[in-house]
Amino acid sequence: MNAEAKREIYREALRELDAVLTDVTDPITAMSTCACVLHQRLPYASWTGFYRVVAPRLLRVGPYQGPLGCLEIPFDRGVCGAAAREARTQIVPDVHAFPGHIACDEAARSEIVIPIRNARGRLVAVLDLDSHQPAAFDDDDRAGLERIAERLSACLIGPDPASV
Ligand code: SME
Repeated sequence: MNAEAKREIYREALRELDAVLTDVTDPITAMSTCACVLHQRLPYASWTGFYRVVAPRLLRVGPYQGPLGCLEIPFDRGVCGAAAREARTQIVPDVHAFPGHIACDEAARSEIVIPIRNARGRLVAVLDLDSHQPAAFDDDDRAGLERIAERLSACLIGPDPASV
C-alpha cells in the first residue's frame, strides 16, 4: 500500500473514532470501538487489539479482533511486554528475529505495539497489531496509531484496573 493511501486510512479512522467516542468514558467501550474501526480499515492487519495492565508488570488481553490471542503477557515477555516496559512504540518488521516474540498466530510475520496512557498520563494498556505480511508496519502506522492512542486517552478517565 502506498504511503498516501495509508495516511488517508488513518485520517479517516481518527475522524470516525473522534465522532463515535464523543462522551465515551467506559474503557472497554472505547477499546472495543477502536479495535473494530482499525481492524475493519487496515487490510494488512490480522490481529488488532489491546492488552491491559491489570497488575504491576502484567498485561491481560482486552478487546480485540482476529484469531485467539494469548491471555496474559508479563512485562518481561514479547513485543507487548517490551512496549509496556519501555513505554515506547515497538515496530517489528520480522517477528521471528525478535527475541522473546510470543507467537499467538503462527502466520503472523510483523507487528506494531503502541503504549496506551490514560488521561492522567499513566500507562494502562498497549495496542497491538499483527500482520501476515512481513514489514507491514512503518512510521506512517506509528504516527497514525499514536494519534489514535492520544484520542483514546481522553476516554480513559476512570480508575486504573491495576490500582484497584
Ligand atoms: N505477539 C505478541 C503477543 C500477542 S499476539 O500477537 C496477539 C507479543 O510478542 O507480545
